[in-house]
Amino acid sequence: MNTNYTPDIDTRKVTTIRLSEMKKAGCKISCLTAYDALTARILDESGIDVILVGDSLGNVFQGHETTLPVTLEEIIYHTKCVVRGTNRALVVADMPFMSYQVSSEEAFRNAGKIMKETGASAVKLEGGKLVIEAITRMTEAGIPAMGHLGLTPQSIHKFGTYRTRGVDPEEAENIYNDALKLENAGVFALVLEKIPAELGKKITEALKIPTIGIGAGPYCDGQVLVYTDLLGLTIDFSPRFVRRYAMLYDEIKSSVSRFIKDVREQKFPTMEESY
Ligand code: KIV
Repeated sequence: MNTNYTPDIDTRKVTTIRLSEMKKAGCKISCLTAYDALTARILDESGIDVILVGDSLGNVFQGHETTLPVTLEEIIYHTKCVVRGTNRALVVADMPFMSYQVSSEEAFRNAGKIMKETGASAVKLEGGKLVIEAITRMTEAGIPAMGHLGLTPQSIHKFGTYRTRGVDPEEAENIYNDALKLENAGVFALVLEKIPAELGKKITEALKIPTIGIGAGPYCDGQVLVYTDLLGLTIDFSPRFVRRYAMLYDEIKSSVSRFIKDVREQKFPTMEESY
């Protein structure tokens, strides 16, 4: 690690260039999801580098089984909220299922719509060779695009399971080659989801752009988690790669139970809490 780089006192707005400087300096990149201004503000003030308005919105907030039902309008709405709560972090908006798969032209138009209407600094797309043309067009037009390989939740019905990707050597080779193609097409960073740590290492070493892992081992240039998993708000989902830094589900439940009890027992409000 280059000791000249001190991320804790770097208050400058995070840009795609800054992320590549961080990779060069060996300074790991932190990324969390957020879907609203309140959460974005807390993450931003804590010093997070990147906030992803993920289509995990579908599972986390909308109560869907998969990310597929999330719409472009919903991503636009939530990204606008996150941008309003953010000062320093780089905000990336996920392109939802079917907003970029039909044609590179439609992908390009929808990416432009997201950038124009939300104030996000970049978009993210899942997949390899199928999105290369779209990414090339975005890059040429000045729309920074982040790639996403390995487990790609929008393709869940093709694979049928959320198993680790790239364990099989042929699948690993495909992911590796897709990573090179995405870098060549111009992505500024690449999310690697649920792949073996050694594959994460091989890809990270081969690319000049930063890799951001989720279940992709310690060698990636950065790490991303869904913030509700990190805070223990989602309790039905506990894959190995999630580290819980709090159990807010229990905290909230016990606080609400205490409130209910106080109301029932007429202990809230007191006269000091009244006018
Ligand atoms: O939608 C999401 O939150 C994501 C991250 C898990 C990388 O794509």
